[in-house]
Amino acid sequence: MKNIFKILIITLVIGSLISCNSKDSRNYEYMPNMYRSIPYDTYGEYDNFVDGNSALIPPEGTIARGYSLFEFENNTAGYELAKKQLKSPFTSSAEVDIKTGKELYNIYCAVCHGSKGAGQGILVKREKILGIPSYSDVGRAINEGSIYHTIYYGKNSMGSYAGQLNEDERWLVTHYVLKLKSDLEN
Ligand code: HEC
Repeated sequence: MKNIFKILIITLVIGSLISCNSKDSRNYEYMPNMYRSIPYDTYGEYDNFVDGNSALIPPEGTIARGYSLFEFENNTAGYELAKKQLKSPFTSSAEVDIKTGKELYNIYCAVCHGSKGAGQGILVKREKILGIPSYSDVGRAINEGSIYHTIYYGKNSMGSYAGQLNEDERWLVTHYVLKLKSDLEN
């Protein structure tokens, strides 16, 4: 009985310490580390990490999963080399999902190049941008390698689409551009 009384008193004392605290002032923080975590920036430099960095930097020469090596450089020589050597991973046209290629093309490319690839996109019609070539431009003679290189790095005033389209998608769009080119030529 005596013990129960003691427990009751202790509970009341602790309870009043916690609950009767003024709402306007801060409450007690028993484990401040749990309330406030230490904000570490990704790739920030800190002494308390193994190699002084909050995130491991990939070892040199490694490629992230889902990516593959693109060995053609972002310059004219790289473009010409891609035009000669770079081939699509899709060996038969049955593998090519032309519907997805079309969808992606219409999202990312048609504003400038037009839905038929003749260089008559909405931005051209509204005179917001100039110098959009037709895919059937004989002087350019684009092919799978050059189209992929152009999507990957961009070309002059056309920006790169490597950030918006992954490798597979870039090839699907490339095949769709080839289809538009052949439609234009016939
Ligand atoms: C903002 C407008 C714009 C958009 C969007 C755009 N392009 Fe272009 N594109 C250009 C311009 C400008 C050129 C001409 C670049 C040059 O040769 O100076 C060009 C050129 C090209 C060429 C010919 C390059 C060569 O080899 O001569 C291809 C192929 C091409 N674009 C494909 C695409 C594809 C595929 C997309 C969508 C992923 C796309 N473009 C999106 C503006 C655009």
